[in-house]
Amino acid sequence: MSEVKSPTVPEVRKTEQGEKPLEKDWKRELTPKEIVKELDRYIIGQDKAKKSVAIALRNRWRRQQVKGDLKEEIMPNNIIMIGPTGVGKTEIARRLANLANAPFIKVEASKYTEVGYVGRDVESMVRDLTDLAVSMVKREKAEQVRSKAERQAEEKILDYLLPPKPRRKRTDLHTQEYNLPSFSFHESNPESLEEKWEKTREKLRAQLRQGKLNKRTIEISVPNDRFPIIEVFSPQGIEELGVNFQEMFSGMLPKKTKRRKVTIKEAQRILTQEEIGKLVDMEAVISESIERVENSGIIFIDEIDKIAGEKPKEGPDVSREGVQRDLLPIVEGTNVMTKYGMVKTDHILFIAAGAFHTSKPSDLIPEMQGRFPIRVELDSLTTEDFVRILTEPKNALIKQYIALMHTEGVELSFTDDAIREIARIANLVNERAENIGARRLHTVMTTLLEDVMFRLPDLKTKKVKVTKQMVEKTLKDIVEDEDLSRYIL
Ligand SMILES: Nc1ncnc2c1ncn2[C@@H]1O[C@H](COP(=O)(O)OP(=O)(O)OP(=O)(O)O)[C@@H](O)[C@H]1O
Ligand SMILES: [Mg+2]
Repeated sequence: MSEVKSPTVPEVRKTEQGEKPLEKDWKRELTPKEIVKELDRYIIGQDKAKKSVAIALRNRWRRQQVKGDLKEEIMPNNIIMIGPTGVGKTEIARRLANLANAPFIKVEASKYTEVGYVGRDVESMVRDLTDLAVSMVKREKAEQVRSKAERQAEEKILDYLLPPKPRRKRTDLHTQEYNLPSFSFHESNPESLEEKWEKTREKLRAQLRQGKLNKRTIEISVPNDRFPIIEVFSPQGIEELGVNFQEMFSGMLPKKTKRRKVTIKEAQRILTQEEIGKLVDMEAVISESIERVENSGIIFIDEIDKIAGEKPKEGPDVSREGVQRDLLPIVEGTNVMTKYGMVKTDHILFIAAGAFHTSKPSDLIPEMQGRFPIRVELDSLTTEDFVRILTEPKNALIKQYIALMHTEGVELSFTDDAIREIARIANLVNERAENIGARRLHTVMTTLLEDVMFRLPDLKTKKVKVTKQMVEKTLKDIVEDEDLSRYIL
């Protein structure tokens, strides 16, 4: 995506008009049904949990539509997802992040318990969320001004390519250096001198847009400490990028420039980014970001069970309840100072999740329990679920393996009963050893395909069909030997 499209005129127009709908799209929220449908593409079953998060998400939007004081009183439907390990709690949150047109971060409650408190203070989650919102909004704004920035960058490149508009006296333009169409002037006709200049510029512009000059190099001034903007990233990735973005835009750093020789294509990219930086109004970005965090931010607190439960009788782990006490004001609503200003946490939605093996939600301090009024339990997964998990989700394991093998020209396929057998074995091992949910499928699959994966480059055949017999043969010994399966599967 780092490719800079040479903007053709119609395209520029299109994006210009596209500014408004983009804004509108942003405001459009998915309905609960649509949210569940999207989640269904990745997560099998767990309908109750999907429904709860969908409702909670939609309620944020509903609250926004409420007029008057009551709006302030409507509290988010904070949720606790309870369920054994590996059944999709984190996965639901992860996918929700992609759906929610909202700043979203996932934190591990246990991160805040570190003995000796090396860890981070609890308020940092709000700061991180705000950073994230800022880069999110910046990115949107950048997209909105991109076409304008591209045009400005184009002018700049043309300025680099062609000396300034000729004065009357000048007779010679140094276009040779770039091997550009040269032309001569007649002193007697200064009018046509300018005309010619214009013409050349337009000719160059056309070539530029067609990408004909892409490979040529020019020397441009670039800020010394720039980072390339990576244009595609998932919400999880924004965090790391936030810093670069910020430096790009804020203009707060001393802008040292240096001359750099780059291809024209590269120059287009660099100059476009620079123009975007100038066109985006940081003040507006910040206030919109804060508004977004306050009204639609979502914080997913994973492993919340790790901070529940009685204090251990001995040892230094005193922080569990302490962390809950720290968390409480944030969940209840407080102001957190961030580098962009105060952020109110009253309406941030919190979704917590935990396996609650050794502790129960009732082991959380009462105030905390009160702040998470909705509890949803996730079901343990059955063999039937495993069959579906192996095949149905967009990122299903079997699809992944097929894609992997495909890179070496081998067509991998599975018979239905082979898949069923894999699911059955995974379930069996889960029952016998520890129940690690769908994660078991990973270990079973890698063990099953280890040999094929190893020999793949040397295989004579271009087709590998996994049958039930093959699954049985490969895994039988391991499954039957309980000790062995404990280590391998
Ligand atoms: N219901 C499901 N549908 C599809 N895939 C699933 C499902 N449950 C789990 N998985 C797969 O198993 C992996 C582990 O699931 P996930 O991370 O959601 O577990 P978890 O419930 O958060 O467990 P833990 O309590 O250990 O954190 C995911 O990467 C996902 O691929
Ligand atoms: Mg998890």
